[in-house]
Amino acid sequence: MSKERIEALVNGTRIEYDVEPRLLLSDFLRHELGLTGTHVGCEHGVCGSCTVQIDGLPIRSCLTFAVQINHKNVRTIEALEFGPESLHPLQQAFSREHGLQCGFCTPGFLMSIEPVLEQVGEASDAEIRSMLSGNICRCTGYETIVSAVRQAHKNVYGAR
Ligand code: FES
Ligand code: FES
Repeated sequence: MSKERIEALVNGTRIEYDVEPRLLLSDFLRHELGLTGTHVGCEHGVCGSCTVQIDGLPIRSCLTFAVQINHKNVRTIEALEFGPESLHPLQQAFSREHGLQCGFCTPGFLMSIEPVLEQVGEASDAEIRSMLSGNICRCTGYETIVSAVRQAHKNVYGAR
């Protein structure tokens, strides 16, 4: 099959690749770029584990073709790292509030909530659950995830 050239920014690094038009973004990120923090669960758009950000918006990488990131800015969970000694406030809060158990779903949750974290301050628990409704966790029961999101908001924006 013929390949298409894509150019994109991935986690701040410019990449150029020739990819088959049918290659999924999730497979491209994991197998071509080695960004295995993006997890693949259901592979048909239900679980949200594969969520990454394109031009600042969360999207499901299992429903996106790699060719669709041409000339776009992609962020994966690896971009949330502040460094080995300093986790992102969302990661710190999920750890402290026990917002994860097996952790398989966690990268998707973090990439979904990060772009709207500022809105959490005024949100009710139901609204936070709605913000996270595209992501499924089969371990935690969600209470600790909601607490972690609130904690992260406080850490970043203060107690307003
Ligand atoms: Fe993409 Fe489940 S793996 S939504
Ligand atoms: Fe296991 Fe969410 S922590 S699926």
